[in-house]
Parts: sequence; C-alpha cells; structure tokens
Amino acid sequence: MSSPPQTIRWGILATGGIAQTFTRDLLVDPSTRGVHNIKHTVVAASSSSSTSRAQDFLEEVGAPSDAKAYGSYEEFVKDPNIDIVYVATPHSHHYQNARLCLEAGKNVLCEKAFTVNAAQARKLVDIAKTKNLFLMEAVWTRYFPLSIWVRETITSGKLGPIARVTADNSMALNPEQNFPDGKHRMVNPDLAGGALLDLGIYSLTWLFQSLYTTQDPKERQKPVVQAIQKIYTGPNVDGRSSDEHSSIVISFPRSKDAGGDAHGIATTSLVVATDPVPGEHSIPSIRIQGPRGEIQVFPPAFRPTRAKLIISNGPDGKPVVEDKTFPQPGPGSGSGWTNGFGSDRNAEGEGHGMFWEADEAARCILSGQQESATLSWDESIIIMETMDKVREYGGSRFPEKIETLDFPVAL
Ligand SMILES: NC(=O)c1ccc[n+]([C@@H]2O[C@H](COP(=O)([O-])OP(=O)(O)OC[C@H]3O[C@@H](n4cnc5c(N)ncnc54)[C@H](OP(=O)(O)O)[C@@H]3O)[C@@H](O)[C@H]2O)c1
Repeated sequence: MSSPPQTIRWGILATGGIAQTFTRDLLVDPSTRGVHNIKHTVVAASSSSSTSRAQDFLEEVGAPSDAKAYGSYEEFVKDPNIDIVYVATPHSHHYQNARLCLEAGKNVLCEKAFTVNAAQARKLVDIAKTKNLFLMEAVWTRYFPLSIWVRETITSGKLGPIARVTADNSMALNPEQNFPDGKHRMVNPDLAGGALLDLGIYSLTWLFQSLYTTQDPKERQKPVVQAIQKIYTGPNVDGRSSDEHSSIVISFPRSKDAGGDAHGIATTSLVVATDPVPGEHSIPSIRIQGPRGEIQVFPPAFRPTRAKLIISNGPDGKPVVEDKTFPQPGPGSGSGWTNGFGSDRNAEGEGHGMFWEADEAARCILSGQQESATLSWDESIIIMETMDKVREYGGSRFPEKIETLDFPVAL
C-alpha cells in the first residue's frame, strides 16, 4: 500500500504578478501531473503594504480560508506554521527578503534572478548552510519535463559532445512608450531593472543547463565570459544604468575526452523579440548543437512546450526529425480553472508549469536536502558571477543600497 502524501506548508512573500501565478499553480492537485507523494498548501501570505492586500491576494488565488494574512514581512516570517517561503518581490529586494526569512529559520524558494550580485548569493548560501535550511533559486523552467528530456538527450551522447548552444530570450516591450515614468521594474535601476537579470537569466539558464549541469559535478569548471551591453536611456531613468540588450559569449571548459571546450552565446533584449510573430513560435529560441545533430527549443525560452530533435544521419542515412510537445498538465478542460502571467492566459485547465519547481523544493525538504541537484548553490552563484561580469563589461550598475551585503536595509 502506498503511503499518504506528505504536506508542505507554504508562505508567500509578496502579492504581485508572479506570486499570483505561482500560488495558483501550487494549489493544483499534484495527482494531475502524476505526483502522488506530495501535497502543497498555503498557510500564510504577506504584503509589504497592508494586511488587506494580503487577504485579497489569498482570496484571489483560492487559498484555504484559514490561511493567515500579514501586512509586514517581519511579522510574517515569525509564523510557526510555515515550512517554506516563496519570495516573489523584485530582484532588487531578494537579498533582503530571502535573508529575513533565513535569519528567521525558514526554508526559501527565491524568484529569479537570485540576487543582484554574486556576493549576495554567496551570503544567502552561507546562512542557509549554517542554519541547515533549504534554499533554491526559482528557475522554474529547469524542472519542466521538456528540460529534463533535453538534459537526458544531451547526456545520452546521441548528438555527440555538444559543441555550441545559442539561446535568446528577448521581448519587444516598447519600454519608452510603456514605462514612461521609468518606475517599472523592467527598466528601473532601483529595482535592478534591465533585460539581463529579468530575461537574460533564461538565455543563460539554457547555456548552463546544457553545458554545465550535464557535466559530472566533479568535472565542472568556471566558464570564461565576454559580453557587451547597450544601456537603456529611456525617459526618467536619469542616465542610470539598466541594460536594453546584453550579448554574452561563454566558453565552458571541458576535458578533451568530453569534447573539449564548448561555446555558448546568450542574448537578451527589451526592444526586439525572439519571436517576431507573437505566439507563432516558429523560430527556435535555443539551439543545442553537436556533431551528429541538434536540439531546437521553441519560444518562449522561460516556458517552452515544443522541441525538436534533429539527427543529421539516421539509420538509413537520411535525417531524422522528432517534433515533440510537452503540454503543461493541470485540472484539465471543463474545470473552469485558468492560470497565466499578467494578461496572458493559458488554455482552460492548463497549469502554468510553476508547480514542478514547488514539487522539487518539497522533495528536497522532505528528504533533508538543503539544495537542489538540478540547480545547485554552486551553479546559481556561478550564474550570478557571470551576470556580474556582463555588467562589468557592459557598464550596467545599480544603486549601492541594492548591491550591498548590509542587512537589514530598508528599500
Ligand atoms: N518565474 C517567472 O516566470 C517570473 C515571471 C515574472 C517575474 N518573475 C520574477 O518575480 C519577481 C517579481 O516579479 P513580478 O512580475 O511579480 O513583479 P510585481 O508584479 O511588480 O510584484 C512584485 C511585488 O513585490 C512586492 N514589493 C515589495 N516591495 C516592492 C517595491 N519596492 N516595489 C515593487 N514591489 C514591491 C509587492 O507586493 P507586496 O508589497 O504586496 O508584498 C509587489 O506586488 C522578480 O524578481 C521577477 O524577476 C518571475
């Protein structure tokens, strides 16, 4: 007889766009995706502005009626019923907010980008280690069945040693017109705005999960990074420095036996789109190339549902193309339930796909693991170091109050 599912009790810190999407997915019955040993519940949520905002949020997402609403993050982290906090503030605030949770003895799943810089990420990891807590950067895409299939295809050796990966995650957001007051988190340097930390993290994720995560942990070495940026100069950012585009070239060291060094090219932009015909998804945003063929992953890079495996010379000497789709599960059509991000709605009954990372966090906590093997602390830190390097080359700098290691700092 199988044992009953174990329940993980979540606290949600922040009430914005992604907090809504994540929490709605979190509350979907895990058996709809074949997960029978875990259950998630929401026991509390906090807004930084008012208890009533947190209460409205809990009602909007359909949380249990006894979930507690807080109007202060400091009060919320004292709640003894919370097993893990999902931090969903802008990335400028992640270091302060995640640290607040860890200092209070809470496990943490923290939205991407993990922090503003690598020093902050290292500090959070040090605290988690010392306090024996679970900590994970919420790069949800890594936990999709599509990403698992990509990594397994790479390690199977079918394509030979992967020599090059190109990845783009760009959106034509028309920022000058849409964010004219310069306050939106996509452009505002006070909120660590710009393409790199918000969108470029996904381009880098594809390079890293293809060329770094797939290596034996004992063989992994730090990559060599080069980059250029264009600084955003739209209205009301006062010449401060979020990036409009970043273009990054990386060499991943590998032994000669493993294929030698592999190259990655990651691009990101706020003003041009990966997919010029929105929703058509006809142009791959990611190409993972080996001597015997390639994997193509179709946009959006953060929530892909389609990939192609192309073997240049099949058994009869002809190319073999496998077109694969990975629809997101959920309560299903006829359920009346929908999710999505912002104004984009998924089909009725289709999950957004954020529950996979929640399942991973729950599995780690229940088995006493402090970090996820799919995105280790070491890898999150190296990705933050990569983004630090990109900003050093490109000149994007944020105010000291959000780059600092000082704690607590009121933002
Ligand atoms: N995984 C994904 O697909 C995905 C998608 C979008 C965004 N994100 C990440 O999620 C984070 C939040 O993005 P979002 O789109 O949800 O942003 P958002 O809609 O602006 O929400 C951010 C929330 O953070 C809280 N907050 C606290 N202090 C704040 C301040 N000074 N300025 C603004 N908000 C403040 C607010 O909630 P309360 O005050 O009520 O607490 C606010 O609603 C970012 O790090 C972003 O990179 C991830």
